[in-house]
Amino acid sequence: MSEFDETEAFETGARLSLSQRAMGVRPAPYLDSLNPAQRRAVEALDGPVLVLAGAGTGKTRALTARIAHLLHTGRARPSEILAVTFTNKAAREMKDRIGALLGQRVEGMPWLGTFHAICVKMLRRHAELAGLRNNFTIIDTDDQLRLLKQLIQAANIDEKRWPARHLAGLIDHWKNRALTPERVPAEDGSAFNGCGVALYREYQARLKTLNAADFGDLLLHMVTIFQAHPDVLAEWHRRLRYILVDEYQDTNVAQYLWLRLLAQKHRNICCVGDDDQSIYGWRGAEVGNILRFETDFPGAQVIRLEQNYRSTPHILAAASKLISANADRLGKTLWTEADAGEQVRLIGHWDGEEEARWIGEDIEAMAGGTRGLRPFSLDEIAILVRATHQMRAFEDRFLTIGLPYR
Ligand SMILES: Nc1ncnc2c1ncn2[C@@H]1O[C@H](COP(=O)(O)OP(=O)(O)OP(=O)(O)O)[C@@H](O)[C@H]1O
Ligand SMILES: [Mg+2]
Repeated sequence: MSEFDETEAFETGARLSLSQRAMGVRPAPYLDSLNPAQRRAVEALDGPVLVLAGAGTGKTRALTARIAHLLHTGRARPSEILAVTFTNKAAREMKDRIGALLGQRVEGMPWLGTFHAICVKMLRRHAELAGLRNNFTIIDTDDQLRLLKQLIQAANIDEKRWPARHLAGLIDHWKNRALTPERVPAEDGSAFNGCGVALYREYQARLKTLNAADFGDLLLHMVTIFQAHPDVLAEWHRRLRYILVDEYQDTNVAQYLWLRLLAQKHRNICCVGDDDQSIYGWRGAEVGNILRFETDFPGAQVIRLEQNYRSTPHILAAASKLISANADRLGKTLWTEADAGEQVRLIGHWDGEEEARWIGEDIEAMAGGTRGLRPFSLDEIAILVRATHQMRAFEDRFLTIGLPYR
């Protein structure tokens, strides 16, 4: 699994030098580049903290500074910090940024990574509790579908009517909710022609025989192990004293349970998120996790970041107006010091072709300088579409007029 960085799997506490070295140095220059709200989010090190903030308000910057602060003040050693991001790229960036903030390379942060990368490291240590050996393999979607197809055929189910992909989606849905076959609720009993749960059980058994786990298992197994083995959980409580989570609005139930179990002793958990940016509902993200943080962690501090560093006031106003129509928001008001900039324009077109023609012309005009604006270079201009197929009209048009769009 090239996607996972397992190289640091077994190094904890080996290198304590970073915080030790940093402890003697008093000034904390990384605090200077923060606004007052960000600074509060960084300095409130103890107890549960929810940093609730809009797009481009410096959430990730604050989270990164918070890790630097934990290390710099000697509050935690690198191996005592659990920091979760949603992509490997974000994890790498965060590591680099912490290094830059502290003026040295960050080594020995074995628990900074994605949910999956961290869980695979944990699971290698406790594999036997999930019926696996610690050299288990992680199967990809193709292998998963192949395995499910075999099980469907063996059960004499018509694969044309009940495709493996459908079953894979169902199993994934259950795993995202931390439901083992035994825990799938009765109302799901009719799923997949009434055979869903039985096939899920067989699939899990086959994975064990193969000494394998799928993506969803990494979290599911860890949650199940923590729930069934308090001694194992206690061991992780001793090890991980500070927890930080970026993009908290995107967590699913399994990830949420895993975090809650790990945080329940020290309660030093800081989640950063935007209830308005939850875009992963289709893969099990529960915006409810962010909405009920204060209930789960009584006494939690809620810090709002509302100064936006990315957009002009006109863009913020348009976005705020649109999002204000959403239900179930915690609510926040973004503002910026940036210049007013151009007004947002809403232009309707008959069809995709006409739209592409108009946008092509506008881009050419913007590259030359138009409406009193400076000339823009093409790499400053983006086109967003709802679905990939809508890019066709643009590509056709740009090829015709010779606009380099890649
Ligand atoms: N206090 C600050 N002063 C100046 N620039 C800042 C400050 N805080 C953040 N920025 C800049 O604002 C931009 C957005 O920061 P960051 O990526 O941390 O925001 P975010 O809230 O995590 O965004 P997203 O919603 O996309 O996750 C970056 O370019 C960052 O350098
Ligand atoms: Mg961010």
